[in-house]
Amino acid sequence: MESKQRILVTSALPYANGPIHLGHLAGAYLPADIFVRYHRLKGSDVIYICGSDEHGVPIMLRARAEGVSPQDIVDRYHELNKKSFAAFGMSFDFYGRTSSPVHHRTSQDFFRRLNEKNIFIVKKEKQLYDPEAKIFLADRFVRGTCPKCGYEDAYGDQCEKCGSSLSPADLIDPRSAITNAEPVMKETVHWYLPLARFQKKLEKWINEHQDWKPNVLGQIKSWFADGLKDRAVTRDLPWGVSIPEDIAREHGIDASGKVLYVWFDAPIGYISATIEWAEEKGDPDLWKAYWQDQSTRLIHFIGKDNIVFHCIIFPAMLMEHGDYVLPENVPANEFLNLEGNKLSTSRNYAVWLDDYLQKFEPDSLRYVLAGNLPETRDADFSWKDFQARHNNELADILGNFVNRTVTFAHKYFSGKVPPLGELDEMDRQLVEKIKTYPSRLGELIEKYQFKNYIREFMDLARFANKYFNDKEPWKTRKENPQACATTINLCLQTAKTLSIVAEPVLPFTARRIWKMLNVENSQTWDDATKLTLDDGAEIQPAEILFTKIEDDVIQKEIERLQQAGAPNEQKAVEKKETEMERISFDDFKKVELRVATILEAKKVEKADKLLQLQIDLGEEKRQIVAGIAQHYSPEELVGKRIIVVANLEPAKIRGVESNGMLLAASDSEGNLTLLTVDNEIANGSKIS
Ligand code: 2FM
Ligand code: ZN
Repeated sequence: MESKQRILVTSALPYANGPIHLGHLAGAYLPADIFVRYHRLKGSDVIYICGSDEHGVPIMLRARAEGVSPQDIVDRYHELNKKSFAAFGMSFDFYGRTSSPVHHRTSQDFFRRLNEKNIFIVKKEKQLYDPEAKIFLADRFVRGTCPKCGYEDAYGDQCEKCGSSLSPADLIDPRSAITNAEPVMKETVHWYLPLARFQKKLEKWINEHQDWKPNVLGQIKSWFADGLKDRAVTRDLPWGVSIPEDIAREHGIDASGKVLYVWFDAPIGYISATIEWAEEKGDPDLWKAYWQDQSTRLIHFIGKDNIVFHCIIFPAMLMEHGDYVLPENVPANEFLNLEGNKLSTSRNYAVWLDDYLQKFEPDSLRYVLAGNLPETRDADFSWKDFQARHNNELADILGNFVNRTVTFAHKYFSGKVPPLGELDEMDRQLVEKIKTYPSRLGELIEKYQFKNYIREFMDLARFANKYFNDKEPWKTRKENPQACATTINLCLQTAKTLSIVAEPVLPFTARRIWKMLNVENSQTWDDATKLTLDDGAEIQPAEILFTKIEDDVIQKEIERLQQAGAPNEQKAVEKKETEMERISFDDFKKVELRVATILEAKKVEKADKLLQLQIDLGEEKRQIVAGIAQHYSPEELVGKRIIVVANLEPAKIRGVESNGMLLAASDSEGNLTLLTVDNEIANGSKIS
């Protein structure tokens, strides 16, 4: 028995200044929830922590624009986001908020510890100040011309046009975003985290994590290559976690108005939310095991814009603090585009979660997003694809299989699990899949390959549907009732397996299947590998799991986005041909490539491009059909040594059976050449 793993999973704390949209879900939330749900089914000791990030200038700007207080803004969006996350099935153990007193205290303690250890550099410096509003102009409170690209409306922390990171003092012709006044320079004191000093240590630590996702390592390496710069971790703002009073006093300043930088306190929110979780459980010290026991696996799920904070700055803070574990992995995702364009929240060019949930089921979106996550590069969400995958996969494959199985059991076996008789070859194949799929799917989740998990899960459902068809229980019912009983027994068992391995992505559907099958909600991943439904056990009536989504419903969503309008100057996100999707070595191993010799070749009638080939594959002869007639004549092919994919499913091409596929290379000019072997080697030799 494996020892129980202790796992602490976090998802980036979303800013409480707007609703959640699909980009958020695909980046930091859905993958984490799948991971956590899988581990719960495995019996791991896992907790999942998230909450609202309630500080920072954008929240203050929003409050000013609406004429309300920042607290009003965060109260509104904290509640809204917490509710829509729950309706989407996000299974946080605790959803905290950074305005909570526990968070303020925890962040101040963290700051105090680093201060006591003399980690910070305290600098007296002049900063931009709005003399009318009487406020220092941090980050987005100042706008001006970007020194890099000349854009006239750049923010003090970033230029939205060219993407450069900026400091307020970098801006040319700065002006206050609050009053439009010309700022003056005024002296102030700030605490800096000397990242440059930590770079070596951080590089060494990252080097021990070469298994992290390449998109994450790539970004980290480029930060290192540029050289880490010291970062101010305090701001002069009236909204945030105040610096501890005693420390302010030591420096002769007033603590009110001097707050921690939002990116200093936000990640500490993971710790404070865990503390609040433990308090709520009535075991106030329980959080320590998760944060202070070095055997904890800490995993941060985030979007790519948060990489530097989670892979460099927060780890540096944790290292210097000394009491806490460091992340084992930070499986950051890239961005999700929408109908080929970048999301734009300000233009309402987005799909908002609360709006989606008023119209569609959470599981449909979970499934479609999980199958199309921006795991290693940006991905695109389209409503047509959503409709197709809901209708053709969830409804036609999974829903149909479960429905026809349960309906059949009710109609012909009085709503009971029929007895399992002797197994034939096809039955054994299905039982073998029940036994082996769960661990394979689990490995994919464990490796953060959620798209592959979804694909393989649906392959299993497809196989189950095919099994039902091929077994023709509607015929065997009369001709061979025992075989029919076995078929339906195994289909019910498979429905149960499918429901368990689907639970991480389809939690609502899984529970509906469990209800139909009359099984407890306490299913485990291990149960998925076994035939646990007893002969004669009663099941409940069939329910339709997925209703097809009609074209007009989808059209409305597409039109809504078209009206919102993709940002004008933005070109549709082009897919570069050179950008390729990576597969794992295990995926590659599945393709069986072998050497063969062409024995005969002839044209396929009424098909200009096709040739029918007889090939020698060592231990067997085979027929394959290849689309190479415009490049090779039949005569010149005979005797050629070629490479074929030997384990491809047989198919009929223009009515001719093809049992394998030969490999050829083609270029953009339309040239084609066969791949062949360099030296003498036997037919049937494997290529690896
Ligand atoms: O990018 C964001 O939405 C941030 N609010 C994420 C914070 S993650 C963590 F550090 F709290
Ligand atoms: Zn710029």
